[in-house]
Amino acid sequence: MSTNTQYTEAIARIKDKLDIVQVISEYVILKKAGRNYIGLCPFHKEKTPSFSVNPVKQIFKCFGCGAAGDAIAFLMKIHNQNFNEVIADLAQKFGIELPQFKGGGASNTELKKQLLKANKLAAEFYHKALDSYAQGKKVKDYLAKRDITDNVIKDYMIGYSPNQPSELMDYLKKEHGFSDDILEKAGLLSQRSNGQGYLDRFRNRLMIPIMDENDNVIGFGARALEDGQNPKYLNSPDSILYNKSKVMFGLNKAKEAIREKDSAIIMEGYFDVIRAQVNGVKNVVASSGTSLTQGHLKTLSRYMNERRIYLAFDSDSAGQAATLRGAEVVKEAFMGLGEIKQYDESFGHGEFSCEIRVVVSAEGKDPDEFIKAKGGEAYLSLVEKAPLLIDFEIDSIIKTGGKDASPQEKAKVIKKIVKVLSQVQNQIIRSEYIKTVAQSLDVSQMALRAELDLYQAPATPSEQASLSNVTKTSTKLQIAQKKLLSCYFVDGSNIPPSTLNNYLDEVEFTEETLSQIKKSLREISEQAENTEILQKMLIDGFVGQIQAQQEIIDIINYSGEIKDLGSSLMKQYIEETVFFIKRARAKQVQNELKSRYYEAKDDEMSSQLIQYEVRDKLKQVNRLKLGDIHEQKI
Ligand code: GTP
Ligand code: MN
Repeated sequence: MSTNTQYTEAIARIKDKLDIVQVISEYVILKKAGRNYIGLCPFHKEKTPSFSVNPVKQIFKCFGCGAAGDAIAFLMKIHNQNFNEVIADLAQKFGIELPQFKGGGASNTELKKQLLKANKLAAEFYHKALDSYAQGKKVKDYLAKRDITDNVIKDYMIGYSPNQPSELMDYLKKEHGFSDDILEKAGLLSQRSNGQGYLDRFRNRLMIPIMDENDNVIGFGARALEDGQNPKYLNSPDSILYNKSKVMFGLNKAKEAIREKDSAIIMEGYFDVIRAQVNGVKNVVASSGTSLTQGHLKTLSRYMNERRIYLAFDSDSAGQAATLRGAEVVKEAFMGLGEIKQYDESFGHGEFSCEIRVVVSAEGKDPDEFIKAKGGEAYLSLVEKAPLLIDFEIDSIIKTGGKDASPQEKAKVIKKIVKVLSQVQNQIIRSEYIKTVAQSLDVSQMALRAELDLYQAPATPSEQASLSNVTKTSTKLQIAQKKLLSCYFVDGSNIPPSTLNNYLDEVEFTEETLSQIKKSLREISEQAENTEILQKMLIDGFVGQIQAQQEIIDIINYSGEIKDLGSSLMKQYIEETVFFIKRARAKQVQNELKSRYYEAKDDEMSSQLIQYEVRDKLKQVNRLKLGDIHEQKI
């Protein structure tokens, strides 16, 4: 028997032993309500229960925040673990033997344990070295000069890496029996430049341990101590423990506050985070050793519901550039997760998925220096006053122009501002902004408005405008796709799965998860005797895939809306939905073509060709329009 089948069988045995009510009860107080259980959702803050557990279907669903899935998905979410980690823990708990994999997946569990142990011992070694090595004294002096107290040093396990080639390596090998191989994998060694053996990666540096969300040391940020010692900060390399583009420094200490406040402040540096946290600004994190990525945002978003993100980078020009770059990353990250909340329209009532603000501090100071000088309270009031990203953007653009600028300069500034304003959908808010901007630049509102209209006119489809169109259509499109799939779950609809399969074949799903679900339903729907079984088969097929399970539960819930339609209305419903999907997809294609056309319009040949393509598509779309559609219904 292959290890793979053994693993699958072990998972099946684990799943057999799992009872979702028991599992969740360890984390949530559940109350029986009819056939289900209800409780306060552990994934977002609430006072009245919207979290429900269905013991028959063995699934949970929060009607507040949308979290949903089976018992394994619950454990993954609550522990922030991946599927294999959850399985490994459960196997241990139930005394079920898991086969050892070679490379990948659960095989890593043992190696991971070793690497964690090595990193923990290293952190303790560096921490003690502050006292046990004579050179440690200069680091303690340095820290004292920076106003980092002994308590803080202890609390963050700050340390010193001695200025010799292999102090740590010798210690870990002699006293704890580690091999070179493991220590290298743990990121603690580097290869000697002549290729002969290893030496300590970190030497003569101030050591800041980087912890994961559960206080395990997974890497280090190491600050130079001498002038000319490069780089200023040296990080652990990426390893199976430490993924630079996901790990957020300080999250272990910030996570509760982030959950509670439903917001996180992202800073640039280790010392910014430490200073803020010890001065009572708790919900603070930083990316470490790399600039902000979508992975970081994903890590953070597990702890937040409405996701108010504060960018608190340095206030110099590099920091400002980093802020704008960071803001783009935030926007992109949440675009992927669903509805985008940026700044316009409703100022924060939960319809959107994130809010971005910028903490602006005095010139040239990073949060560390600011808080050191003025205290945590003063910083909190800066946070309180933090402008929305759009205001920050407009402000920083206006600063480059101003009332006294030449007409040419003003035109340049306006061009940039128009790009920002075009993202504001709400006309009232937009016209308020137009007023303010016109005033500060001393240009006429009419001219500004004209520029804005021009910018958005279909003849020049801006990147922004087409982007927001695409996302809007695609959310609607996704809902329609889910509704179509939900038809499989209507009991007694008299529409057999084979007929539904035929309808499904007519439409193309573009989004990865939904197309997988579609494919799976297409394969299994004829085997299931009833909708209950189909549901179970479908969810089981996506074991460990949180996003897919969430979609599936959405789909199942949509079936509730149509269960009483009766077969002829049902058929109409299906046909309209299929039609809607086709048309929306055609529109998408048309939009893509349009933007290709405008990109290519300087090149006459290709523009001609694309023009024909666009015209052709338009015809198709218009033909579709003649059909009998009721978009509102969908
Ligand atoms: P202090 O001078 O100790 O207060 O650090 P700082 O955080 O104010 O330094 P700076 O503003 O120069 O850098 C901000 C953050 O960028 C640091 O905390 C590091 O995470 C990162 N960083 C700075 N220099 C380097 C470098 O040379 N390499 C890498 N990988 N990261 C760096
Ligand atoms: Mn600093």
